[in-house]
Amino acid sequence: MDKAIKKCIEEMSLEDKARQLSQVNAVIVRAETKAEITGKDEGMDLCEADTREVGSVLNFNGAADAIAVQDEYLSKSEGKIPLIFMQDVVHGFRTVFPVPLALGCSFDPSLAEACAEVSAVEAKYNGVQVTFSPMVDLVRDPRWGRVMESTGEDAYLNGEMGKAFVRGYHKGGILCCVKHFAAYGAAEAGKEYNTTDVSERNLKEYYLPAYRACVEEGADMVMSSFNLLNGVPVNGHKDLLVDTLRKEWGFDGVLISDYAAVKEMIRHGYLETLKECAETAINNQVDMEMMSSSYIHYLPELVGEGRVKEGRIDESLRRVLELKQKAGLFENKYGETDAKRAEEVCLCPEHRALARRAAARTCVLLKNNGVLPLSAEQNIALAGPYAAEKNILGGWACWGRPEEAVSVYDGVRAALGREVVCAAGCGGKLLDKDESGIPAAVAAVKGCAVAVVCVGEPSECSGEATSRADLRIPAPQASLVRAVSEAGCKVVAVVFGGRPQVLTEIEPYCDAILYAWQPGTEGGNAVADLLFGREEPVGRLAMSFPRATGQCPIYYNCFNTGRPRVPDSIENVSFISSYRDTLNAPLYPFGYGLGYTEWELSAPRLSSPVIGQGGKTKVSAKLKNTGSRAGETLVQLYIRDRFASVVRPVRELKAFRRASLPAGGETEVCFELTEEMLRFYTASGKYESEAGRFDVMLGFSSENVQTCELILEK
Ligand code: BGC
Repeated sequence: MDKAIKKCIEEMSLEDKARQLSQVNAVIVRAETKAEITGKDEGMDLCEADTREVGSVLNFNGAADAIAVQDEYLSKSEGKIPLIFMQDVVHGFRTVFPVPLALGCSFDPSLAEACAEVSAVEAKYNGVQVTFSPMVDLVRDPRWGRVMESTGEDAYLNGEMGKAFVRGYHKGGILCCVKHFAAYGAAEAGKEYNTTDVSERNLKEYYLPAYRACVEEGADMVMSSFNLLNGVPVNGHKDLLVDTLRKEWGFDGVLISDYAAVKEMIRHGYLETLKECAETAINNQVDMEMMSSSYIHYLPELVGEGRVKEGRIDESLRRVLELKQKAGLFENKYGETDAKRAEEVCLCPEHRALARRAAARTCVLLKNNGVLPLSAEQNIALAGPYAAEKNILGGWACWGRPEEAVSVYDGVRAALGREVVCAAGCGGKLLDKDESGIPAAVAAVKGCAVAVVCVGEPSECSGEATSRADLRIPAPQASLVRAVSEAGCKVVAVVFGGRPQVLTEIEPYCDAILYAWQPGTEGGNAVADLLFGREEPVGRLAMSFPRATGQCPIYYNCFNTGRPRVPDSIENVSFISSYRDTLNAPLYPFGYGLGYTEWELSAPRLSSPVIGQGGKTKVSAKLKNTGSRAGETLVQLYIRDRFASVVRPVRELKAFRRASLPAGGETEVCFELTEEMLRFYTASGKYESEAGRFDVMLGFSSENVQTCELILEK
């Protein structure tokens, strides 16, 4: 242990130690009276004077506020240990990037890294020392609004993207906290804060690897989640927090609870008193309690009663002080906070340029019957409630301001250098019912060759506490798409949303569908770049798009069952794993997305069709751009272990690679497939491979692959 930290711990009273292990909203630290806080942070039992001396704050208002809070705090604090400032910098700070699920669709970790770096630069000058990101919860159910914060349904992709975020934040100069540990994304029925029940094998194989990847990449903190996991709230889960995170993974950074999650163990029905909450959480090595006061109120007493060892508290304290040291707070109590630099970097042209590029590379073209790309000479009109909407920033827009964002209307006018017709037709809210504006909108766009109809869900309807039970495009917006199509215009739907929505009803009326997600500050420019072919759509889905909400949860790496429906149809379904009213397949599968050129990929070949333990083979295929434009595509490598002691999914993504080729260009794409990549948790509980046959698949999506066979020998 660092000498200075050791000395500091030795000199601190138990009460001071408990305070260092607590985090509250900055508003609480500054408030002189209880009345100032009540209402702002409803339900907080943190209003007494003694709960305002803490180790850390979250949610504050930029550089000047951070400096004021620190100064005021230190002038009153006896311990004189600076506060550490944390905030949810999730997809940008003032310059807002596409939501993480969209970044997942880039299948491009270097892009995520660049966005995280820029976010960190803007954040650090504004007083942030730690971001509560990356969020790497595996997500399979788009009813859950927080799918937008994750990079999707595949553990491998989430791990690669999560690591990229960690690297980016560090490069940009802030520390980071991976969340929400663990399996919060498995909330039953996609309902927010709901129960999760995940088998140990499932946890190890699908839910835990991405958090582990981030920890191994150097994530400085981990956040324990809200959910009940297999009967125990996460903060009560010794197996998870101590045995797995600390002992098995060797994580020695700060573990922080999610917002008031320590005290929520009472409402879960797990513990009866706040004192028991403190005892359980600290003994499970939750180092810092966010927004509840059980540590402040009870840790000293618990030590006195011998229920918590002082050494346990000192260990947590060491981690918190080391975090502050890492953030440079002992040399400079403000860290890198600098209002002038903040002003200079926020929304600077380079940051905006990256936001535009990121947004263009994360939109996914789902359908195109040839209408796209558009030409500037065409008679184009805009319609739909999202055409002129500037709040396309997404659920964790942080300091992003809608008025600084570029709408599709702004972007298209800038691209064309002229005015265009733009008619909303209806409201964009989820529960809007009013269709009375549709005839006027149709009249306004009628006669134009192409109508770009912008529909979807509002920014505030994805993210925390935004579950939906019906994922269809709201009725007035669907009616608008249909009416515009029936009026004789070609329809290009640009769909906004933080989650996969059900597009089944609008799809027949669309000549093209571009899924724009919540693309951030430069969204409208990026959409225009794609519509007019200045950029090619290169995004590929990181989450399956259901054709009906009732298919959820839905994910590509599912099991075959004993009665698979092959081929997928709605006839002959008796006693087969299927639905009577729809297909099994999603409307658009994981890995899917179109570009502006055509591709051909030959069947994969293996350099050695038989490998042994520790062995490897080269998987290769010829890729040809058969279209008339230069382009970029994503080749995906999947495997299937045909027979195993524990049944394996029909496909598992193992690697992906981008390729750019001129029209007519040809190249060989190569992947290395190692025996290690064939490992899983076998019936004996070991992580190992089993000899036998494997399908090796290369293709352009999880449902568009060609296969060859690999034999693994003992
Ligand atoms: C969310 C976390 C977030 C925290 C602090 C919680 O409600 O679940 O994701 O980091 O608040 O804002």
